[in-house]
Amino acid sequence: MNALEPFIHRFEPATAPGQAPLLLLHGTGGDESDLLPFGLAVAPGAGLLSPRGRTLEAGMPRFFRRLAEGVFDEEDLTRRTHELADFVEWARAEYRLPAPIALGFSNGANIAAAMLLLRPEVLSGAVLLRAMSPFEKPPAAVLDGKPVLIVSGSFDPIIPEANAARLAATLVGAGAAVAHRSLPTGHGLSQADLRLVRDWLAERPALAA
Ligand code: MLT
Repeated sequence: MNALEPFIHRFEPATAPGQAPLLLLHGTGGDESDLLPFGLAVAPGAGLLSPRGRTLEAGMPRFFRRLAEGVFDEEDLTRRTHELADFVEWARAEYRLPAPIALGFSNGANIAAAMLLLRPEVLSGAVLLRAMSPFEKPPAAVLDGKPVLIVSGSFDPIIPEANAARLAATLVGAGAAVAHRSLPTGHGLSQADLRLVRDWLAERPALAA
């Protein structure tokens, strides 16, 4: 696929004014429809932009290649992060959108974290669900108080808590306003995630478009 072609995606226009749109980024094996119900539940009325990852692993869409579970092909990650950031810029012009808040789960959260570090201007904030550090040596970034919510699962078999804590420390070091919460759950999303994200977004009217 040509890097300049837009990603396969779904776009649901806002039905209520004054909220930043959400950029929904699915997990491994998901697609552009996966997180729409979650987005609708946490930000009713907000515009929703939901691309499908362009990498396939055994037929499962992802946003970038990995060498093993939790071991990333960082060259591919960097290239794919820029492609995705370019797509968001394309979509902002096409649909007349302000900078979105990324809401990513698992693989989608990891590319959202990479985008915060490599192309911070593209996002107005981020919600990272079951995220880990995308880079062994994170690039220097200036996040200037950008709000970020990280939600980990304390029984997550895929993401060690120390790894998510390292991501939080990286983002804090870059100047982001980070809230890192841990829920008594595993890798999958729960109702508690939904409530946490909804409340965090509602407390941030400054993110409104
Ligand atoms: C990743 O590959 O991004 C993480 O291992 C999470 C996953 O998608 O399983």
